[in-house]
Amino acid sequence: MNSKKIRQSFIKFFENKKHHKVASAPVLPYDDKSLLFTNAGMNQFKSIFLDLEKPKYIRVVNSQKCIRVSGKHNDLEEVGRDGFHHTFFEMLGNWSFGDYYKKEAIQWAWELFTEVWKLDKSRLWVTVFKDDDEAYNLWEKETDIDKSRIIKCGKKDNFWEMAETGPCGPCSEIHYYVGDDLENQNAKHVNNSSDYWELWNLVFIQNNRLKDGTLEDLPNKHVDTGAGLERICSVLQGKNSNYETDLFSETISDLEKISKTKYIDNEVTYNVICDHIRMLSFAIADGVLPSNEGRGYVVRRVLRRASKFVMNLDFKRNQYYINWSNQLFPQCLTLILN
Ligand code: GLY
Repeated sequence: MNSKKIRQSFIKFFENKKHHKVASAPVLPYDDKSLLFTNAGMNQFKSIFLDLEKPKYIRVVNSQKCIRVSGKHNDLEEVGRDGFHHTFFEMLGNWSFGDYYKKEAIQWAWELFTEVWKLDKSRLWVTVFKDDDEAYNLWEKETDIDKSRIIKCGKKDNFWEMAETGPCGPCSEIHYYVGDDLENQNAKHVNNSSDYWELWNLVFIQNNRLKDGTLEDLPNKHVDTGAGLERICSVLQGKNSNYETDLFSETISDLEKISKTKYIDNEVTYNVICDHIRMLSFAIADGVLPSNEGRGYVVRRVLRRASKFVMNLDFKRNQYYINWSNQLFPQCLTLILN
């Protein structure tokens, strides 16, 4: 299945469960000083969670453009070194605003993964927040996951917060073992090894983190989920890295042509360039231009970082500038328009 079909099948699955499809918000947050960039699908629904706005629909689904290069969620240093972290990525998500809660969120995530997408159950692991017996019991009773694959973890991994302040809550993550040795999987390696990829995070939004660090209970309980499209594509397409999926293949082959180098000889460099092109394309398209401060400064740093990695490919200076503007920029536009 190509990435377009995978995105569509996620949306369709939740539309069939009475969710309304909404558009992605821009990567430039609407009116939120707690964030430099949209870092999760739930950002655009913050005022609904905080009960400052009534939802138009109580169940929604979307694919959200996200940038994680600043603040609480910052994956910049991992990018390129492994095949599954990005500065820009698409987050597939479903939400309940005071409607269904943990039971349906868990049942439906398992149904989509194991019955629709037919992911191998002997590779799947689930984590729950250590105090969340309700989620633990639901995984055990409402799905056919092997009990030994449900793990309790602490706040660092299983209490999700969008920023220093704002809506948050305990979460339950679904991880996938991508390694070769099925018999040698180990619960201790989940969250601690690059052979175990977090594919989907189910957040049970029930608290609000205040400026003084305390937590207050929200008036209603909500569901906020996030699954990285790039990782899901990698797993469903049987690849070892997100960069081997159709989401990146055209950029990689353009870069091979322009630079007269090969991906296999320059994997990290190619990964960084391909990742940063997407981040820059979407940031600029949504109105964040390189500048000396704030968001614009982050964009400028990423642009400079991408250029530095381009130099690893031994481009001649003139050729590099001409090729960047003539060939890679249209590639950016293609990414935006698709
Ligand atoms: N809001 C869920 C996540 O970003 O993982």
